[in-house]
Parts: sequence; structure tokens; C-alpha cells
Amino acid sequence: MIQVESLTKSYHVGKTVIHALKDINMELEPHKIYVVLGPSGSGKTTLLNILGGIDVADSGKVIVDGFDVTKAKPSELTLYRRKKLGFVFQFYNLVSSLTVLENVLSTKYLAEDGLDPKDVLETVGMWEHRDKFPFEISGGEQQRVAIARAVVKNPAIILCDEPTGALDFENAIKVLKLLETINEKYGTTIIIATHNNAISRMSHKIIRLRSGELVEYTDNPSPVKAEEVVW
Ligand SMILES: Nc1ncnc2c1ncn2[C@@H]1O[C@H](COP(=O)(O)OP(=O)(O)O)[C@@H](O)[C@H]1O
Ligand SMILES: [Mg+2]
Repeated sequence: MIQVESLTKSYHVGKTVIHALKDINMELEPHKIYVVLGPSGSGKTTLLNILGGIDVADSGKVIVDGFDVTKAKPSELTLYRRKKLGFVFQFYNLVSSLTVLENVLSTKYLAEDGLDPKDVLETVGMWEHRDKFPFEISGGEQQRVAIARAVVKNPAIILCDEPTGALDFENAIKVLKLLETINEKYGTTIIIATHNNAISRMSHKIIRLRSGELVEYTDNPSPVKAEEVVW
């Protein structure tokens, strides 16, 4: 479903060249949970942004469900992001002037076959908070709303960049459980970028980056449930 071939990306800062991704190859199947693991600066965000059509590769190929992300025009990428993908970020990125429900509705209309916002908000346990503004709920709750906002479009893939990075352990586990529920209930492929080794125990494959290189790429024969993850 997701094919990545010889993907490279570098950034030029003054005279310095930073090789953020070096010859990355991978192949991911639908309906699974994947964790991209690596320390800060290893290239995780760059990889997710290129998969998500937010950033552009220097060379190599990214094919998602037959769609060539690396060759696409900006207008095609807009449609790709809108129809295929959901995004979850470390700091939630909710619109502060919109209520919980309005935040979820704001993306629902981007999709043709979106899900019922009530059902999705119930799934993340936030329906009774639907009329609150982001500042009236906790960080963990904001992240649950952010997940609902990504899910309501019914995307094939949800890209999560350090989704638990700003949360305490208990709330982090709640968010991971929720991502697992979304994967089971809607069949969504979930890709989680994190520096937290423990989270990779949930992954169907260990995808480890170090200094822009793919240093580990092995199937995980026995992924654990989110509730068994500890750190
Ligand atoms: N827009 C940018 N301009 C310059 N350097 C960047 C930019 N984005 C990322 N980098 C560099 O690329 C490398 C990989 O960064 P990133 O993908 O953000 O890693 P991670 O998400 O694993 O922390 C780092 O050395 C980072 O400093
Ligand atoms: Mg990052």
C-alpha cells in the first residue's frame, strides 16, 4: 500500500547540508500499526511529512495506493492529503476559537464519505465535551479530539508525529489505546513517529532511523496491545 524507494532528502542551511533521509526503502501494508522509531533529529518528521505530501523529496519514490506522491503536482497533493490522510501532531493543533465538535466538523467536510462526528467523538470519549473550547479541556483530551478530527474524514492512513510527546504516561497510554481502537474499528493504517522505544512494541514492524538512515526494518512477530506498553 505504501512503497518507499531510495528516498532521500537534505536541507541546506547556509553552506551546511543536512542529510535528513538517506536512501530509505520500505513497504507497508494496509490496516496495520507502524512505529517509526529514532532519536530526535533522526529524520522521523521529514519521513512523515514526505509520506503526507507536506514536504518534497530530493529523489526516490513514494507510492501510496498507486498514487505517486513524489511526482504529484501541488493540486494533486492537496486532494491526496484531503482524501487519503489524517494528521495528528505532538501539540494537538486544534483551532482554539472552535469548539470540540466544530474542530471535528472542520475536517469532516473535506471528505466525501466522512464518518458520523457523533460516533467518532463517542469513540474517543469526547462527545459529552463537544461544546467546550480547547482551553477548557486537558492536553490528553485535546489529543483525543485531534484524533477524532483526523478520523472523521475516514482516511486510509493516519500519520501521527510524536502523538504522546507532550503527555504524561497515563494520557499517553490512553492515546495509544485509542489509535489501536481506530485501527481495529475503521481499519485505518496508523503510522506513529516517536523517540520512545517502548511504543515500538505495538508495531507490526520495527522501523528504526538513525541520522537519516534506516538501521532496522524487521517484522515484529508479536506486537503487544497498547495497554501493555510501559516506560
Ligand atoms: N526545514 C529544515 N531546515 C533545515 N534542517 C532541517 C529542517 N527540517 C529538519 N531538518 C534537519 O533534518 C534532520 C532530521 O530532522 P527531523 O526529520 O525533524 O527529525 P526527527 O523528527 O526525527 O526529530 C535534523 O538534523 C534536522 O535538524
Ligand atoms: Mg520530529
